[in-house]
Amino acid sequence: MIKMKINIRSEVKNIAEEIISIRRDIHKHPELGFEVHRTAELVSKHLNKLGFDVSTGIGKTGVIGDLIGNNDGPTIALRADMDALPIQETSNLPYSSVNEGVMHACGHDGHTAMLLGAATVLKQFQDTLNGNVRFIFQPAEEGDGGARYMIEDGCLDRVDEIYGIHLWNYQKYGEVGVKEGPILAAADVFSIIIKGVGGHGAAPQGTVDAILVSAHLITALQSIVSRNTNPLESTVITVGQINGGHNFNVIADEIVLKGTARSYTEENRQLIKNRMQEIISGIAKTFSAKIDFTYTEGYPPTINDEAPFKKLMISAKKIVGDKCGFPYMSMGGEDFSYYAQKIPGCFFFVGSAPSNQELRSVPHHCSHFDIDENALLVGASIFVQLIEDQVINNR
Ligand code: NI
Repeated sequence: MIKMKINIRSEVKNIAEEIISIRRDIHKHPELGFEVHRTAELVSKHLNKLGFDVSTGIGKTGVIGDLIGNNDGPTIALRADMDALPIQETSNLPYSSVNEGVMHACGHDGHTAMLLGAATVLKQFQDTLNGNVRFIFQPAEEGDGGARYMIEDGCLDRVDEIYGIHLWNYQKYGEVGVKEGPILAAADVFSIIIKGVGGHGAAPQGTVDAILVSAHLITALQSIVSRNTNPLESTVITVGQINGGHNFNVIADEIVLKGTARSYTEENRQLIKNRMQEIISGIAKTFSAKIDFTYTEGYPPTINDEAPFKKLMISAKKIVGDKCGFPYMSMGGEDFSYYAQKIPGCFFFVGSAPSNQELRSVPHHCSHFDIDENALLVGASIFVQLIEDQVINNR
């Protein structure tokens, strides 16, 4: 077996302990959504100490650090998210969450630590910058779309390109997953309320059984992905929640279904929404039920632009060699998509699967989530390399 070679940059190696200890500190003190006050303070203190131009309270609780060079070259933004999840940690790690019911189970603690590491290193190169670097630390990636608020507060003003990393436990340490075009899905949410007519379980005549209607509806909805969308274009419809009914001998009068729809293109997103409405109307008519349907568009699909994708490939290859560019896609959603809708951007995955575990045995959003912390050095090195290639050596 050929042992892969990872070129962690020496400047990053020098501060490896610091990066890891920042990640553990944030891991131990996770915060939700926009309430990332402690984390934002840790970030702004670190950047202030380094001598950055720091803006706080951006997008409610986000932080921006500017590393100003000359204005001849481009301004490149690097982005991290800071928020955790409402999960009770069961990892038993020495740096486990001390906040009841809150946990960094997606790796955003690592994203923040990596970006602070890159900031520490790049500060040393400030005099040689032919352009500027903007460090964006945003709140509320997990559902509330903190990116939108950051953009409203001007975080992309005068920025030419943006890059973002997600640590990724579905890939091994040393691998970088990225592709041009769609990389993460549109993540929409739907809710369906089926209203029937209840009655005695032994006397169905005259009733409209909401459970029977829901069974037909759930089955029919799955025909959208299998029969309406192009099989070469990934889509998902999941009914994740079903609630209703009263007792074994009572015909249910109401069922509530909740679920999510994922797609990589606006066309498929609209197709799913329209077909759902048609099927729901048809089933309602067939069974004489009344069905309310609410479809809420979540994050748009994350689309990587050609130019930043190509630049990322060049820089990342210098760090991980040919372990870069697995054409990785996920049906997950990311609010990085909002940045990439405004300016050219590239979002990529840095493999972080714990080396002592089977691949995929420590998934994101699980209560025993942890990462291979060496991946933090890979991510920080790629950020530094990107800036060296585009802002330092671009004369
Ligand atoms: Ni995440």
